Formats: sequence, structure tokens, C-alpha cells
Amino acid sequence: MKIVILGAAGGIGQGLALLLKAQLPVGSELALYDVNSITPGVAVDLSHIPTDVTVNGFSGKDPTLALLGADIVLIAAGIARKPGMARSDLFDVNAGIVRKLTEDIAHTCPKALVGIITNPVNSTVVISAETFKKAGVYNKNKLFGITTLDIIRARSFIAKLKNKVSENIKVPVIGGHSGVTILPLLSQIPDISLTESEIKTLTQSIQNAGTEVVKAKEGGGSATLSMAYAAALFCFSLVRALNGEKGIVEYAYVESDRKQYPRFFAQPVLLNENGIAEYKEIGALSAFEQKHLEKILDELNKDIGLAEQFNQ
Ligand code: LMR
Repeated sequence: MKIVILGAAGGIGQGLALLLKAQLPVGSELALYDVNSITPGVAVDLSHIPTDVTVNGFSGKDPTLALLGADIVLIAAGIARKPGMARSDLFDVNAGIVRKLTEDIAHTCPKALVGIITNPVNSTVVISAETFKKAGVYNKNKLFGITTLDIIRARSFIAKLKNKVSENIKVPVIGGHSGVTILPLLSQIPDISLTESEIKTLTQSIQNAGTEVVKAKEGGGSATLSMAYAAALFCFSLVRALNGEKGIVEYAYVESDRKQYPRFFAQPVLLNENGIAEYKEIGALSAFEQKHLEKILDELNKDIGLAEQFNQ
């Protein structure tokens, strides 16, 4: 199994590379690519960790050597937010980066599963889809916007509030990955009941969590370590699915044709060797969640439309 990280020298990329080097199955291959010339050095650094995962690093303008034979490609390249910015403010720079890297994937390893971390995820995933389409190799079952960070944040915040073990908490989060488009379904958490006021506060905390990190880092960037952890969890699920394990369900921002939702929407999907095997039921929404959902549709459709136009 070969996993490639594009944007591997940045804060997310390095953290993610560390987690994958430490925990990928024996015999896996990890390829790190970044325009930054330290990338081969990052690979040498990681190669001293005694796990049976091979690591190679590549830098320069062309990621082809890193991408050759890839089974999974994770895109973390791009710039991060500074205080006062919304994720959508990153569009101008990151849209072009994701388009270029997708062209490279389309050319070199079009059958790979692709996970996108680069913000604004609500749009970059669409840009990637349209780029694959233009190259004639789009398969909507193989393209994922990684929204696992919203889920692990929800689990952490609820565990703290309710004094529970976070590992045992399962929280569905649907919608998109920016502000109000992040919709945690707190009414669906097994064995935990929350008051109306707790639901309101938790929903806001989960939606604003990324911005809180940006503020706390005071201009030094956005979440890197928790994002790396989230992307690693998502990647391990893809690896398990590719290895034939059954019953793996993940939430991700993917294309579907559910009538009442935008073209791209974070939702539960069952994974198999070919990526998405099945779209799972989103389940009943509480009145609070239903009202919230109606508010986010316009915003998501706007983010999607902007990306569709970018590729025309
Ligand atoms: C996050 O949720 O932390 C990331 O999307 C980065 C950001 O800009 O908030």
C-alpha cells in the first residue's frame, strides 16, 4: 500500500507523516512531496523511527515521482488562515494549488483514493472533482474532503462537558467544513442527552473551533496537529477498506445525488476497496438541526458554485 502526502513539509504534512510512519501497517510505503526543499530531509528524519514503513521524500515543482503507484493521496498543500480571515479567503491561492496537484494525480495515479485537507474544503474538493472530470478520470467514489477534525473536536468537547471517555463517544457531523456549514448532529449521540442550551453552546464551539485555534496561534497559522491526527484517522480507515475490511463507515465531504442536499455534502459513507461503496442514512434531525440545515444550504451551494466556475 502506497500513501502519498502532497504538502508534506508543512505543519499538517509533517504531523501527518509522523502519525502514518508510526502506525501504518507493516510493509506500507509513504511518499512525501512538497515544493519545500526540506522534504527529503523530513523523510530521512522519519526513516530513523523503527517501524516497517518505507519513507521517501521528494521536492521541486513536479510530484510525479512521489505519485507513481499511489493507492491513497492526501492533499495538505496550501496556505493557512491568519486571524480575521475566513476559510473562503484562502480560495484565491489554494484553488490553483489543488487544481495543479489534481492534474498531477489525474496524470500519474488516476485510480488512487484522494483525501483533501486544503481549505476551503467546501470548494477545493469541487475543484478537484472538476479537474478530474476535465482529465476524463473522475470517479466520485474516490474523492473525499476530510472533515474528521469536526468529529474529533465534537468528541473532545462533549467528553469534557459530560466527564466521559472521548473514545466511546460517536458524533455525526454533516454539512461542510466552515463555520455554520459544520452541522454536528448532537441529537444522534448514543447514550448522551444534552439540554437545549448545551446543544446550542456545543454546536457553536464545534463550528468556531478552527477559528479559535487561528486566534490562539496569533498569526502563526491554523490547526496543524489536531488536523494531522484527524487526517491520519481518516487515512487509516481508507487503508483498512482497501485491505478488504468490511463495515467501515466514515463521515466525509463527498459528491452524492441526495435530492435535498447540495451536490457536495459531508455525510456518512460505507467504504470498500473502490472507495465509497454506499451512502448511509443521515438519520432523523432534531427541529434545531433541521432549522440549522436550511440556513446552511445557500452557503454551501455558493462555495460549490464558486469552485465550479473556477474550473470552467
Ligand atoms: C480547522 O478547522 O482548524 C481547519 O479547517 C483550519 C482552519 O483554517 O480553521
